Amino acid sequence: MSFFKKHIEAMDAYVPGEQPVTLAGVVKLNQNENPYPPSPKALAALREFDEASLRLYPDPMVARFRRAAAELLGVGEDWILPGDGSDDLIIMIARAAAGPGRAAAYPYPTFPFYFTQGQIENARCLRVPCPEDFSLPLEALAKADAAVTFVASPNSPTGATATPDRLEWLAGKLKGLLVIDEAYVDFADQHAAALATRRDNVIVLRSLSKGYSLAGLRLGFGLAPPRLMEGLVKTKAIYNVGPLPAAVGAAALADQEYHSRCVELIRAQRQRLERELAARGFRVYPSGGNFLMVTVPGGDGRAAFEALKARGVLVRYFNEDRLRDTLRITVGSQPENDALLAAIDAWRG
Ligand SMILES: Cc1ncc(COP(=O)(O)O)c(C=O)c1O
Repeated sequence: MSFFKKHIEAMDAYVPGEQPVTLAGVVKLNQNENPYPPSPKALAALREFDEASLRLYPDPMVARFRRAAAELLGVGEDWILPGDGSDDLIIMIARAAAGPGRAAAYPYPTFPFYFTQGQIENARCLRVPCPEDFSLPLEALAKADAAVTFVASPNSPTGATATPDRLEWLAGKLKGLLVIDEAYVDFADQHAAALATRRDNVIVLRSLSKGYSLAGLRLGFGLAPPRLMEGLVKTKAIYNVGPLPAAVGAAALADQEYHSRCVELIRAQRQRLERELAARGFRVYPSGGNFLMVTVPGGDGRAAFEALKARGVLVRYFNEDRLRDTLRITVGSQPENDALLAAIDAWRG
């Protein structure tokens, strides 16, 4: 006799990227973290945080952060729902919209957490393969017509993006919800936030983990029409975002000048890595994120991963169909990328 439901017993847990015990001697390019520190204004908010507020329960709707996000996107506060990382929003959405008789669809490959949440809700999970070039399979997702469709744009691990026009086309085809996961959109050319204001079935997700260098803070948010937000609020943990992330996150969003500077540095380094990796025989897929997916020369992704790890550079290898000849490499700072290229040259001879 199990203590858990049969479908929970049967599923695998989500496997996060490797986190070395110490960063000494490691160039960490495996979890798409931002190489630059958070905004000085966010760090000032951390130092100035009112300790007295820790004794009290926080505001369950996180008005302080909601206001900052609403201002940034030019919408009313009731269009924003903060979460304990954007993965918290994925959990809320799956709870509210996926389940027996209510399928969840997503591309393959993509962020595996959509599958994890679909499984937890005991929903049929429709894994829709990307074509050979790893572009996003929007037409096939439209045909799947699930109760909830997840599209990360930029997608991970491929970096592929879909234009707002194409995403709007998909939203129009679907009877269910379309979740546009923009965790990496800070590094892309275009975003699709306006779709949430034009379509009643679109939820856009944003994260402060990548573009704002705050992965450890755990803060993200959803943007959707208030009617959808009312549904999601029912499925959220009561106090899912505390006052400390709210204060630091609000200050980070308000410092767009610093944000833009970091993004520009990373985009310039992404361009440099694209060029340098291609010159070394890697096939580099176009990426709108702060990472690149590459097919390794020789086709053995695991061997490349091990060779780089032995030289102190940690990248991401996925031991699964279609990805065994690839690596996903986070775009680091210039010295980190220098170290990556030096490790590749040492490995390749
Ligand atoms: C596509 C995508 N969406 C969402 C997330 C979750 O990000 P967070 O919970 O840190 O906001 C990730 C994390 O890697 C991701 O790759």
